[in-house]
Amino acid sequence: MTATLPLSSNTADRRLWLPRNPENPLIVSDAVASRRTVRSFLDTPVDLETVTRVLDRARMTPSGCNFQPWLATVLTGEPLRAMQDKMLAAKPQDPIEYSFSEPNASPRHLSRLQEVGARMYGALGVSRDDAAAREEFMRENLVSFGAPVVLVCYFERFMGPPQWSDVGMWLQTIMLLLREEGLDSCPQEYLSLHARLIKDHIGVSDETHILFCGLAIGHRDPDAPVNTFERPRLPLDQQVTFLGF
Ligand SMILES: Cc1cc2nc3c(=O)[nH]c(=O)nc-3n(C[C@H](O)[C@H](O)[C@H](O)COP(=O)(O)O)c2cc1C
Repeated sequence: MTATLPLSSNTADRRLWLPRNPENPLIVSDAVASRRTVRSFLDTPVDLETVTRVLDRARMTPSGCNFQPWLATVLTGEPLRAMQDKMLAAKPQDPIEYSFSEPNASPRHLSRLQEVGARMYGALGVSRDDAAAREEFMRENLVSFGAPVVLVCYFERFMGPPQWSDVGMWLQTIMLLLREEGLDSCPQEYLSLHARLIKDHIGVSDETHILFCGLAIGHRDPDAPVNTFERPRLPLDQQVTFLGF
């Protein structure tokens, strides 16, 4: 068989199997538990080497048929600022890139959104009926909550639901690997409200590609209340059925 794609060195290099810091290894459970959506970043820069290491390792994410549908552009500095300035001056596009709020029609799912929203705005000191303050905070998405690096994630339009799921796995792999580097993230479907503008800025065709989301990358502000509120989750018995145990 002829290899037409570069093969990963990850499985061949035994050193990569070892914990990066043998004194204090971060196990996967720690990475999962310590990941949260960060909505206030410090301005500490993130270097290219670290981001490259994470993205290189994330290449080993599984995907149906090994299609590896994910694509991304990573911005920092002036190109990022310029894109953010354009978004701040623009209105959300019409029609939308895709709908991310359809489950709101289901009361069970709407209540999950409302519960996490109540905790988040409670941490921010924004009252339930202050729609203007809520909207203002949502617009902080446009500057990725101060993150120094933003990954814009897109893929080809002919990809179907299984491939959307693959892209989600890739993003989660990245988010966990970022934890290993001591970094934090915020996935941002909000950026899809400006998908065409972003694609134009980064030189990606709107005709052939759909923009899924942004991923803000940086160091969390540990003192920001918006980074410390508890996120509710369903109990396991409402999510998983065990048979035959
Ligand atoms: C694909 C995806 C897109 C998201 N988009 C946004 C977003 O645009 N803005 C935002 O503040 N949070 C966004 N979130 C964060 C979710 O609100 C968050 O994951 C959820 O409330 C659970 O909180 P946690 O990530 O802190 O555990 C997104 C999460 C995912 C997985």
